[in-house]
Amino acid sequence: MRRKVRALFDEADLRVGREKWYFDVHVLPCTSIGLKLAKEYGVDEQVVEAACLLHDVGLIGSGTENHEKRSAIRAAELLKEAGINDEKFVSSVQDAIASTALEQKPHNIESKVVRTADAMAHMTTLHYYWKAHLKKDFKDFESWFKKKIEKDYAKICFKKQKKELQPAYAYLKKLF
Ligand SMILES: [Fe+2]
Repeated sequence: MRRKVRALFDEADLRVGREKWYFDVHVLPCTSIGLKLAKEYGVDEQVVEAACLLHDVGLIGSGTENHEKRSAIRAAELLKEAGINDEKFVSSVQDAIASTALEQKPHNIESKVVRTADAMAHMTTLHYYWKAHLKKDFKDFESWFKKKIEKDYAKICFKKQKKELQPAYAYLKKLF
């Protein structure tokens, strides 16, 4: 599954910006953080791993708006293609993916883990740097970044991780 998702993002990256980055800079760190949190909070690691790997596949070819819903639909298709037909598993993965949307309220611990991992992966990697690099227009990046950092910090669902990321959040806020 990792190889398949990497290939999908690499191909999309090459089409859009000619550089492969999204899988290594965001999807993979999100998955590692998700698995770490899944262990810490005692939740289903397989659901978390699949949801983290697939949570942004809806971005491919369609832009950011409503990508979480598209990711959930595409995730089910990709899981089916990989021979995973356990409906409960697929629907848990879809729920967790849907919970990465800012307006969503995660209603179970797996969803909280995936939502938190997504935000933490933005804040602890070169994700924002890559966005700046790709946007090229600095003013455009600045207004995107100011909103994004607030959204990301708001999406961290656990007090412990919120506290851990507080210095990074405070630092990033000072940049502009
Ligand atoms: Fe993401």
